[in-house]
Amino acid sequence: MYISRLMSAKKKQKPKILVIGGQGYIGSVLCEDLIKKKTYQIISIDNKIYNQKIFTNINKKKNYKNYNLSISEKKKIFNIAKNCDFVIFLASVVGDPITKKYPSISTKINEKFTLSLLKVLSKTKIKKLIYVSTCSNYGISKKIVNEKSPLRPLSVYAKNKVMIEKFLLKEKKNFKYPIIILRFATAFGWSSRMRFDLTINEFVRNFVLKENFDLYDPFTWRPYCHVKDFSRIIYKVINNKQKIKTDVFNVGSNFNNFTKQQIVNKIKKYLKKPMITLVNKSKVDMRNYKVDFSKLKKFYNIYPKYSVEYGIKEIISKINKKPKKFSDKTKFGNYEIKKFR
Ligand SMILES: NC(=O)c1ccc[n+]([C@@H]2O[C@H](COP(=O)([O-])OP(=O)(O)OC[C@H]3O[C@@H](n4cnc5c(N)ncnc54)[C@H](O)[C@@H]3O)[C@@H](O)[C@H]2O)c1
Repeated sequence: MYISRLMSAKKKQKPKILVIGGQGYIGSVLCEDLIKKKTYQIISIDNKIYNQKIFTNINKKKNYKNYNLSISEKKKIFNIAKNCDFVIFLASVVGDPITKKYPSISTKINEKFTLSLLKVLSKTKIKKLIYVSTCSNYGISKKIVNEKSPLRPLSVYAKNKVMIEKFLLKEKKNFKYPIIILRFATAFGWSSRMRFDLTINEFVRNFVLKENFDLYDPFTWRPYCHVKDFSRIIYKVINNKQKIKTDVFNVGSNFNNFTKQQIVNKIKKYLKKPMITLVNKSKVDMRNYKVDFSKLKKFYNIYPKYSVEYGIKEIISKINKKPKKFSDKTKFGNYEIKKFR
């Protein structure tokens, strides 16, 4: 009787997903989507280094809990992770400008803390680890790049990410489970932890609030992907039952490679433009690359479905509801680190 009750209680336990960096721009959309599925227990670890606010009531959801821990607190995180089924690693200091502003803190978090935590996580018996990296690792390329192309990281941020990718691929035998490295395109779209330091989000905000801006290197290419698509794709990777070994995948869509000028032209279809000053050869951001995303489709049979136009309309409508709230963009993005531990 006791054993059968114990067994049925065990059966009822929902699989646990640990999202490290769950209160960030991508993490909060992902956690909200996973909560809605109702089939998982979601545990997040995030110490909110920007003191960021989440717009929704995610913290009150029954199948969700955020632990206010830094990724440097590896023993505490190990004790949480050892009871989990999947780990999704998102926590980082994210973006070229913020890592340029805080190079030493960024390298500490993105390399030192991340590396020691990954070593500890290698000792858990989880089923899969997803490490989220970036297409910024490609830096500059005249040819369209794929997962086999050379990496040419230009920023502190991309250098940090490449370092971790190399570690994971070299040490994969020391992990008892597959590691899926996802190189994300540049994100856009609405999130409960909004970031206006991302190209499309920033441009749309400038248009809606009629703020003049400088358009640096308008003819440089980059791939873009809606944040909801990242969430869909992570869900697919978690649930994939086929055996896929440790590997790297670009995540984005071949249809969403655009220059910054093309993005501005798309926004112009919906809004009058503010004054835009074109700044060529600025050296502010030298990245220039187009990415091929066919490997993701081939292995996981999934592809992004949200267009840049969808994201532009979505952001216009959200800002228009509360334009004053978004007048100070520094409250919504990776502009200033408020907490470091
Ligand atoms: N947003 C993009 O365009 C984009 C593109 C490519 C890859 N990525 C990757 O996706 C992931 C998530 O990015 P995002 O856009 O959500 O960024 P984000 O800055 O909104 O989220 C990162 C989260 O990590 C947390 N964090 C940072 N340092 C921490 C620490 N020491 N301990 C605990 N938590 C800490 C922050 O508080 C934040 O909530 C990152 O790994 C990033 O490299 C993002």
